[in-house]
Amino acid sequence: MSTLEDLRLRIKEIAENYEDEKTGGWITGDGPVPSDILFVGEAPGKTEVEKGKPFVGMAGETFEGYLNSIGVTRNNVRITNTCFFRPIKTKEGKTGRTTTSNRPPKTSEVKLFKEVLDDEIALVNPKIIVTLGNVPLKRLTEFKSIGECHGNLYFNEELQKYIFPMYHPSALTYNRNDEFKAMYEQDWLKLKEALKTL
Ligand code: URA
Repeated sequence: MSTLEDLRLRIKEIAENYEDEKTGGWITGDGPVPSDILFVGEAPGKTEVEKGKPFVGMAGETFEGYLNSIGVTRNNVRITNTCFFRPIKTKEGKTGRTTTSNRPPKTSEVKLFKEVLDDEIALVNPKIIVTLGNVPLKRLTEFKSIGECHGNLYFNEELQKYIFPMYHPSALTYNRNDEFKAMYEQDWLKLKEALKTL
């Protein structure tokens, strides 16, 4: 079985040798190993790369607030990503200034880290995997979209693990309406109940 150090070295190797698209640094997962709960996000952003940890930027603040609201602290869960480097795109403005922004990881980029994530799951040996958004959902399950399955507990035969799909916390930024917020909050409460059954 791999160790956390093996995983770190493999992520570094993949990220630092990748030349097909622009990327802006890489990180590993964070938190205890083993752990009963594993959260899997999409890919790190700028703040995550700066601080070397997943979910420590704006989406991370939202995430941690809701996590704490159900009585769980960050120190007690493992948090990782589907793609371990920061996918970026750059645009040159009229003044010649270049701006850098995040982009979603491509399917081929997610594939680069397939074994790394599988091995991290084996090492963490969680009772439940909470997927955050469509990228980890499609990577780990047969579901086609988060809309069809969020807020419910499923047993995934292939992984032999419970999976709880949730919207990505940054979806709250894109869906600034009360209805979405209420549904998102409800999903966290459902997660709280699901955790009691494990
Ligand atoms: N969004 C993610 O999906 N992962 C992170 O680590 C940070 C933001």
